[in-house]
Amino acid sequence: MGSADTLSRIGLAGLAVMGQNLALNIAEKGFPISVYNRTTSKVDETVERARQEGNLPVRGFHDPRSFVLSIQKPRVIIVLVKAGAPVDQTIQTLSVHMEKGDCVIDGGNEWYENTERREKAMSELSLLYLGMGVSGGEEGARHGPSLMPGGSFEAYKNIEDILLKVAAQVPDSGPCVTYIGKGGSGNFVKMVHNGIEYGDMQLIAEAYDVLKSIGKLSNSELHDVFAEWNQGELLSFLIEITADIFSIKDDKGDGYLVDKVLDKTGMKGTGKWTVQQAAELSVAAPTIAASLDSRFLSGLKEERVNAANVFKHGGLSGILSNQFVDKRKLIDDVRQALYASKICSYAQGMNLIRAKSIEKGWDLKLGELARIWKGGCIIRAVFLDRIKKAYDRNPYLANLLIDPEFSKEILDRQAAWRRVVSLAINSGITTPGMCASLAYFDTYRRGRLPANLVQSQRDYFGAHTYERIDASGAFHTEWFKLAKKSKM
Ligand code: 6PG
Repeated sequence: MGSADTLSRIGLAGLAVMGQNLALNIAEKGFPISVYNRTTSKVDETVERARQEGNLPVRGFHDPRSFVLSIQKPRVIIVLVKAGAPVDQTIQTLSVHMEKGDCVIDGGNEWYENTERREKAMSELSLLYLGMGVSGGEEGARHGPSLMPGGSFEAYKNIEDILLKVAAQVPDSGPCVTYIGKGGSGNFVKMVHNGIEYGDMQLIAEAYDVLKSIGKLSNSELHDVFAEWNQGELLSFLIEITADIFSIKDDKGDGYLVDKVLDKTGMKGTGKWTVQQAAELSVAAPTIAASLDSRFLSGLKEERVNAANVFKHGGLSGILSNQFVDKRKLIDDVRQALYASKICSYAQGMNLIRAKSIEKGWDLKLGELARIWKGGCIIRAVFLDRIKKAYDRNPYLANLLIDPEFSKEILDRQAAWRRVVSLAINSGITTPGMCASLAYFDTYRRGRLPANLVQSQRDYFGAHTYERIDASGAFHTEWFKLAKKSKM
């Protein structure tokens, strides 16, 4: 063991793509880092990369003990391994060498309850624990991710200086990191970030489908449209990469690569957790749910090909090929439909976070979350600044839809939004995300819903009782008897 100044400031275990890039980012920001991986070739690879990328202060270790002991106290070790059992195994391996006050930070897409369980177990060993959402993929990890640390505040304070430098920096808004809150709140917020990411990707895919299938736009036109959209209110990482995708030629044959990619969406599970949590908390998240369902249906490739055959004489192909479409108008309408749908999707995600925050007593700050999502992460967008401002105006805003600015934006776009959705429905082109968003808006904005009938039905067959609009209390009616009498 060397003296304190030869010790590393921090350690990182788990050197797959994200871990390797985050370690180099930390080193580049001036924090000497020790790295460890079970497969030792990854350690050597990382050290070599650090050398090539400017002699960054990265020290590699092949055994867990010397790795842990190479870090200055209180030790902080970021773990970036696959969520679930591998995290438990890594903690087990490392914690035997750690001492009171040392801390483990799990940077994976972990289920929040696992973090809470681990935080408790670690505290019994006098060790600290953080569950930190890390967003931004490989590029973000290397040059500035959005970081969502939750758990021990003391542990956060021990490494705040590192996180503030390592995170993406957004001018006028600061580093994309903040202490999220207690327990598993960092993982929960990252999970909802991913749910929103699913929603965004689905809505963009629908915009593409309408423009391609109804508007007959070519890939090069689609590239231009998305590139233009990326100059305005839709400016975001996902719109930017979508524009790029339409410009990439196939390297294995003719045409564009996007047309050769199999139409089956994979997933790792965070979007599903988001929808499960929404149901658990009775929060409507139809746009995010629609994006998840679309992934499920996309997976049924063979069945869909078969069904396409069964319904090939359904008459819709005629509509698609014969209908007149004003391209410029369609493009403008789709842009507006996409933006309005996006507002509804974010409203759902934010309300889900708030519901969980209330349930768990996390006291999460929605505006601050919007701020740290402005840079580094996959859903980064200029639009998030508007969300931040909406919560700055009113931290207790019941729903983004009723914020004065967003309500105006929705109203300005609703005619175009309805035109796009109607056109898609009539053409047999699916826009489940846009439809779900519109239905969310149309349901939320109505003072009276047909829920009175559902309540009546429930009371009719199950004596579940109902409330009245003109008197308080629970009422039950013998509907069946009254109906029988009225039939006599
Ligand atoms: C991020 C991403 C990242 C990952 C998604 C992919 O924020 O950097 O969200 O975490 O790309 O989890 O999720 P699916 O595989 O479920 O689409």
